[in-house]
Amino acid sequence: MTIIDLRSDTVTRPTEAMRLAMARAEVGDDVLGDDPTVTALQERTAELLGFEAALFMPSGTQSNLCALLSHCGRGDEYLAGQDAHLYRWEGGGAAVLGGIQPQPLAHRPDGTLDPADIEANIKPDDPHFPRTRLLCLENTLGGRVVPAAYLDSATALARSHGLAAHLDGARLFNAAVASGREPFDEARRIASG
Ligand SMILES: Cc1ncc(COP(=O)(O)O)c(C=O)c1O
Repeated sequence: MTIIDLRSDTVTRPTEAMRLAMARAEVGDDVLGDDPTVTALQERTAELLGFEAALFMPSGTQSNLCALLSHCGRGDEYLAGQDAHLYRWEGGGAAVLGGIQPQPLAHRPDGTLDPADIEANIKPDDPHFPRTRLLCLENTLGGRVVPAAYLDSATALARSHGLAAHLDGARLFNAAVASGREPFDEARRIASG
């Protein structure tokens, strides 16, 4: 009997080909821009997703933290779903390292956030409140693909209030493949907000 461990995709192991690719990769000093493999990965990712540039981070937690620290300063606030990985599962890093306050919101049954709830939690410009700066979304969320139209409308809503938007795309390509459309086009579309 073969048992497939579905606790998480993170329990998978690299294949022999992946190990070989890692072992044989050309390396160099990334700080000096001399690591051709990292440079190629960043260039390929930026091109694939339609961005000016990309930056390799060795973990998802680090990526999310860098995004939060880029968008928010001390006393700022981000909105995120209660189950958002960067809110629930990342050691409160934004608060610990950035003095950034989370404002968690309840998910609707399909994992989305209610636009009225997003709007109601954007704080007025008043020194009593933290400054709401950022809406954090995630796709997939807990293994579920988030509807594309929702990502677009939630992002547009955030922007209309002067907020930035961040997407935790740890499983961006899983969401893209699940759409049934051309995966790279779909990944670019999902990341475009
Ligand atoms: C949606 C999501 N974001 C971020 C992370 C964090 O990634 P890492 O374990 O590489 O820090 C995970 C980890 O599984 C995740 O599921």
